[in-house]
Amino acid sequence: MNVLVTGAAGLVGAEVCARLTRNGHHVIGLVHRVRTLTANNGRHVRAELVTGDVTLPRLGLDEPSRRLLAARVDLIVHSAAITDFGRPRETYEAVNVAGTANVLDLATEAGARLIHVSTAYVCGEQDGHILETALDARQRFGNHYERSKFDAELLVRKAAAEGLATTVVRPSVVVGATRTGVVREFKNIYVVLKLLSEGRVTAIPGHFDACVDLVGVDHVAALIADVAENRADGLTLHAVGSSVSMRHVSDVLAEYPSFRVPRYVAPATFSPAALPGVERAYWDRMLSLYESYFRRRQTFDDTAAAGLRTNRRATNGPDQLRKIIDYAVRAGYLGAPLPGVDEALAEVGR
Ligand SMILES: NC(=O)c1ccc[n+]([C@@H]2O[C@H](COP(=O)([O-])OP(=O)(O)OC[C@H]3O[C@@H](n4cnc5c(N)ncnc54)[C@H](OP(=O)(O)O)[C@@H]3O)[C@@H](O)[C@H]2O)c1
Repeated sequence: MNVLVTGAAGLVGAEVCARLTRNGHHVIGLVHRVRTLTANNGRHVRAELVTGDVTLPRLGLDEPSRRLLAARVDLIVHSAAITDFGRPRETYEAVNVAGTANVLDLATEAGARLIHVSTAYVCGEQDGHILETALDARQRFGNHYERSKFDAELLVRKAAAEGLATTVVRPSVVVGATRTGVVREFKNIYVVLKLLSEGRVTAIPGHFDACVDLVGVDHVAALIADVAENRADGLTLHAVGSSVSMRHVSDVLAEYPSFRVPRYVAPATFSPAALPGVERAYWDRMLSLYESYFRRRQTFDDTAAAGLRTNRRATNGPDQLRKIIDYAVRAGYLGAPLPGVDEALAEVGR
């Protein structure tokens, strides 16, 4: 197969490219600013690269290049997106929504199948067990990112209704490899864990029984490669791993001697203004972007995904969390070394 992967240099995209090339497919990676593909294990992925921008008509390619691409491609895996939080709404709309529309145009012109990489969090802030078939429940969204991914899924559904063969894959929170915790870069949940474990923010508004789902990047990529090879037209698949409650987060952080453990306070009584100066700055600029995730009580059904060949390895939430933290500590991202005896004595003597 000739497969075009957008966002090919990203965490998920590069891992998908690695698997598809390993399985003998010809991969064309659409790259943007970063122009090398590095798999999650740090290895370079060799693939044909095309530089483009999904926000532009024809993905920013000149007409002959686009026509050539459309003539060759059998399948598009659309993984390009703005994935960090806190940007202006227009940025998410341009890349995640209009970018998806441009990719759909190419898929239609090429007569290619599309695997659209969405997010389980298109469900927004609604609580409960979220089905893969669910999309519009008049939910409130936690941020512009979620809203944009929802709007992109609507576009994909419309194109599917008009005859395009599509599959939507919705990962939850993507973390390091399921068995080893190894991850190429520390973003999203790792930033939250860093701020909490270093005591930069000591109180957060949330519930002990709120939960997030963590999925290894290996599982997400394996599921996408499985759909690429075996098709799952018309389906939406939750690429999820294990559910981790805020109680698990507290309990697991407490197992690490050098880590601080946050206090949870009732959301209704939380006031950022009452936080001490530096803590308030960390809250306002960083942790507040994730605020609603400390309150949500969501789990994700993955019946359709489980019907594919790629079986999710059963993992338990706290174990998965320990694994990713252990790796982040080994890599030097989390955890200050404990003071030696001399430093500890000097502290006491002060
Ligand atoms: N990571 C997660 O926790 C998570 C969870 C659920 C769903 N997802 C979804 O999974 C997909 C991949 O996520 P990821 O974690 O791999 O994200 P990532 O590491 O941030 O990669 C995103 C890729 O998109 C590219 N991109 C951004 N703007 C572009 C543009 N205008 N034109 C072309 N390419 C552009 C980026 O290229 P440059 O960096 O070179 O600009 C980057 O390679 C996304 O659709 C995301 O919504 C991710």
